[in-house]
Amino acid sequence: MNLIKVTCACFSPGGSTRKVVNAIGKAFADYPVSKIDLTSWENRQKEYSFHENELLIIGVPSYGGRVPAPVREALTRFKGLNTPVVLVGTYGNVKLGDVLMELRTDLFRNGFIPVAAGSFICQHTYLADLGRGRPDGEDMEVLQKFGAKLRERLRLLVTYASEPLDLPGSYPYTFPEMGELPFKVETSDDCFYCMLCIGVCPMKAINETNPKEINHSACIRCGACISICPAQAKSFTDGPFFGLQENYLRQYCENRQEPWYVIG
Ligand SMILES: Cc1cc2nc3c(=O)[nH]c(=O)nc-3n(C[C@H](O)[C@H](O)[C@H](O)COP(=O)(O)O)c2cc1C
Repeated sequence: MNLIKVTCACFSPGGSTRKVVNAIGKAFADYPVSKIDLTSWENRQKEYSFHENELLIIGVPSYGGRVPAPVREALTRFKGLNTPVVLVGTYGNVKLGDVLMELRTDLFRNGFIPVAAGSFICQHTYLADLGRGRPDGEDMEVLQKFGAKLRERLRLLVTYASEPLDLPGSYPYTFPEMGELPFKVETSDDCFYCMLCIGVCPMKAINETNPKEINHSACIRCGACISICPAQAKSFTDGPFFGLQENYLRQYCENRQEPWYVIG
């Protein structure tokens, strides 16, 4: 194909999915590459159009085995014109679930042709012992190979494969849409009103004048405010969360999952 432009799009409150998508995008560094950060509430409201000579690489984290709801909404404003798309799902060493299947369904409906897909393990947002430090050096090597093979495949591509990509997950989806998690973000008295958290919250869930006030039903527990806080004043509350943690840690901590990808 005669590729003229590449767009790397991601939703990445913790920054790992962005690393993964950008690592794949690096294989196309000599093309014009633009970036869309769907973590930003404002960016998710915009319309995006793509032509057939463009490539979209899109990455999202698995939230309960599904595409995070705010991203799904934003994807309705992505319009392709037989535009090739690379689907990327990241997860915290527990499960990817139906993320790739969901991306494929929603983007195909909007004029995109999935040409490749991959799943990559990243440090878990709120169970940091899972996938700690990932993507690590080994993951980066796999990402580099994926990017290089993808580039070569696209160079040789004349027509798209008639068979859809064989992806993990199922449709109808096995995993229900994620409801409200049984823990919240709380703010301690160490907060000194630097207001940084307000700017990084993808959901505008933090009061613009009082960062201690959080709209818990809008909050998606993505942890962006916790990571940015210079005073470590924000944290997840305990409760049922820590009951879960023990099971999760025992089951998934030592069992390193590996990246996977397919190119059509
Ligand atoms: C609300 C929420 C739900 C999550 N659910 C899962 C899950 O079901 N399985 C899993 O392996 N990781 C899960 N994770 C972890 C993230 O998928 C993982 O850490 C991801 O790579 C974070 O991407 P980011 O750093 O770009 O935000 C979840 C994280 C959050 C915040």
